[in-house]
Amino acid sequence: MAHRVTIIPGDGIGPEVSAAARLVLDAADVGITWIERQAGTAALAEYGDLMPAETLGAIRSSRVAIKGPITTPVGSGFRSVNVALRQGLDLFSAVRPARALPGVPIRHPSVDLVVVRENTEDLYAGIEYEEGTPEALALIQELQALSGTHVRDDAGITVKPISVSGTQRIVRFAFEYARTHGRKKVTVGHKANVMRFSDGLFLQTAQIEAGNFGDIEWEEIQIDHLTSRLAHDPSAFDVLLLPNLYGDIVSDLCAGLVGGLGLIPGANIGWEYAVFEAVHGSAPDIAGQGLANPIAMILSGAMLLRHIGEQAAAENVEWAVDEVLRQGLVRTPDLGGSSSTMEVGEAIASATSHWEHGPS
Ligand code: NAI
Ligand code: MG
Repeated sequence: MAHRVTIIPGDGIGPEVSAAARLVLDAADVGITWIERQAGTAALAEYGDLMPAETLGAIRSSRVAIKGPITTPVGSGFRSVNVALRQGLDLFSAVRPARALPGVPIRHPSVDLVVVRENTEDLYAGIEYEEGTPEALALIQELQALSGTHVRDDAGITVKPISVSGTQRIVRFAFEYARTHGRKKVTVGHKANVMRFSDGLFLQTAQIEAGNFGDIEWEEIQIDHLTSRLAHDPSAFDVLLLPNLYGDIVSDLCAGLVGGLGLIPGANIGWEYAVFEAVHGSAPDIAGQGLANPIAMILSGAMLLRHIGEQAAAENVEWAVDEVLRQGLVRTPDLGGSSSTMEVGEAIASATSHWEHGPS
């Protein structure tokens, strides 16, 4: 069966790791027709827009996309393209598996975790009031009137909305994910004792929804305690279900547990659309030099294959990544090697086309 997939190369190391991932997905041979569109700096030059309507339209039409990282210009008044994309396509769940890979030395060799992060609410909802603006001052007065709380006049304010309906869908998603991916336990991270009406609601909603999934074990844990336990014994966890901000931070922590950002894939999934991307950013420090590790992007491609129903091809690509890492001959500098991004891509593509466990 043919598949249409939108590919967005992105900024910085994005075009390099995207080219490597495309090579591997082509080697998996499931008949992907690529629709290449721009976002980020490349799009800004051509369309005067970081996320052109044409690119969003392509994702809507193919429903599935793989994208490279996009640089968010700091302090320039641009909203993060990634946040806009997640909200615009209502990609309410971020899925980030972190598993120990062969031949990558790490402290806890048995790590096999998946972070499921709520992607649209919380402190990342984008509701912000700049210090000193009339809006910020009006809000400060309103807060004083409503709750008697004194907020300093020179405060900037970011609002943290967490809703029952927004939580219900991510909780159901996480438990369904656990079920369909053979996982046993969901751990809900929160700080409900301090943020009773946002994190508290998240926890309470999770508690109720978990009741509908008797086959999956669940537990709750305070987020600070979770980070300490993850650093100490990550094998105690399976699926981590987290509100937006904690999910962002804990996914990087989990990346660190398994050997770095160059290895961790990700998916942003909603009811209608799915956009696959590595957890890492555009890495301007190493861009354009062939130094970037393409494995995170390639494994994001494997997640894409599974999402479009190409289970065997997904396993093939994951096996090929493991195989190249096991052999240890071709690796990028972040893993102690001296190979280029494309050399790693080519080695994995070649292993993909020589799959030993392939379906006959
Ligand atoms: P980053 O992930 O780009 O880089 C952090 C460190 O990890 C750097 O030292 C970098 O060289 C290294 N690194 C990242 N990916 C690597 C790879 N594949 N291979 C080897 N080393 C790798 O994070 P940073 O520097 O905070 O962000 C840079 C830009 O990326 C910012 O503009 C940020 O907004 C954007 N960003 C975009 C994301 C996206 O599009 N999904 C996600 C995260 C950041
Ligand atoms: Mg992040």
